[in-house]
Amino acid sequence: MENNVVVNADGVQGTINKNIYGHFAEHLGRCIYEGIWVGEDSSIPNTKGIRNDVLGALKELDIPVLRWPGGCFADEYHWKDGVGPRENRKRMVNTHWGGMVENNHFGTHEFMLLCELLETEPYICGNVGSGTVQEMSEWVEYMTFDGESPMAKWRQENGREEAWNLTYFGVGNENWGCGGNMRPQYYADLYRRFQTYVRNYGDNKVYKIAGGANVDNFNWTEVLMREAAHLMDGLSLHYYAIPGDFWKGKGSATDFTEDEWTITMQKALHIEELITKHSTIMDKYDPEKRVGMIVDEWGTWFDVEPGTNPGFLFQQNTIRDALVAGVSLNIFNNHSDRVQMANIAQTVNVLQAMVLTEGDKMLLTPTYHVFEMYKVHQDAKKLAIDVKVNSIKHGDQFLPQVSVSASKDKKGKVNISLCNMDKDSEATINLDLRGIVDQIKVEGRILTSKQMNARNTFEEPETVKPTVFEDYKINGHKLDISLPSKSVTVISIES
Ligand code: AHR
Repeated sequence: MENNVVVNADGVQGTINKNIYGHFAEHLGRCIYEGIWVGEDSSIPNTKGIRNDVLGALKELDIPVLRWPGGCFADEYHWKDGVGPRENRKRMVNTHWGGMVENNHFGTHEFMLLCELLETEPYICGNVGSGTVQEMSEWVEYMTFDGESPMAKWRQENGREEAWNLTYFGVGNENWGCGGNMRPQYYADLYRRFQTYVRNYGDNKVYKIAGGANVDNFNWTEVLMREAAHLMDGLSLHYYAIPGDFWKGKGSATDFTEDEWTITMQKALHIEELITKHSTIMDKYDPEKRVGMIVDEWGTWFDVEPGTNPGFLFQQNTIRDALVAGVSLNIFNNHSDRVQMANIAQTVNVLQAMVLTEGDKMLLTPTYHVFEMYKVHQDAKKLAIDVKVNSIKHGDQFLPQVSVSASKDKKGKVNISLCNMDKDSEATINLDLRGIVDQIKVEGRILTSKQMNARNTFEEPETVKPTVFEDYKINGHKLDISLPSKSVTVISIES
């Protein structure tokens, strides 16, 4: 049976905030150290310590915003340990992630340099769990104050004359868990207090993000919105697609069954229900939708690769991850009235990474390719769609066969992203493009593979990569499309 998709090219419904295509890099495993930072003396080619191959790959993604330094690490991080001459920086234990020694060589200046090189906006997460109000306040002063002050002076002594622009600042992370095991009432009060001293200096206006709920903790959202919505710009939400049990075994990233494929897709789709329910609570206190939902941690979470440090969260990445990325980004696009930012976890070598490294080698994951293909949606106008799709059955489980989102860019080009979650069969689509003239020019790119666990390895780094998509027929303003099983496709239409 055909799937029916109507795209209303003149039915603009607001803008898809480019920050939905944001990323997250934590001091965890080999994300920052090895993955991004190798140091100036490394034999791996680098720019002031940041490896060039990773930099070049990430630059292609037009990353709009990058969250740092955590995650759970953020509430253990004391920023003053990470500035000044590197040889004098304090060595600490990264207690949360593998108990490794953190030498603090990658600190505020290095992160800001990374953002400058990537032309991305920094999103810094401050320490509420084990930090002080003064420490947080002084960090913002250090980064953004341009006049005469103790912190501005210290920044200048450390080699940076002008203040940086810092838009996004998180007041703690997962404060219901690793960020202090707090109850929502207590955190809401702490949020109110800490954020008071996150000052706007000069022209720098900080967008303040409160630590939000885990998964379906709707009471957390209720309390935070009720007690502190007027003092926040964004409220976060964390959700990971885990096919198994978080504590007893999440499932392998590469060696998984057909059942696990289906469950992973269902888990990915579940974020739509979470967004809808949390949004309903937010709507009660903020009907104007001023406060953004900031999904600042999302993605797949599987068991670590055999033989690797369990605290490093290193996992491979297959076409299944690509589908999770494509489906999730479609959901964020379709809810962009409330979802103002999302940050996939994490950029390099950790969880659902964009790139993996081994010594001086680097590979691009299937997830990387989805972000590259979908970047056409960044800051584009969201288009109204009407979708009637087949339901596919696996055992006693059901899945929609196809996921869709559509946008129109500044030049009027319509971009439609289509995911076929079916691991067995192609999906045929009858696409009706309304509000567009009959003479259309179509181009497409597709990411797919025969095997459901196809992946890129250091030996074969190009097993999964985008190719030109031509499996469509144009019929006036309609398109008959055939999507192969397990595929992510972006179709671009000019008229
Ligand atoms: O992304 C890995 C971890 O998951 C983060 O540090 C934490 O915030 C979340 O629990």
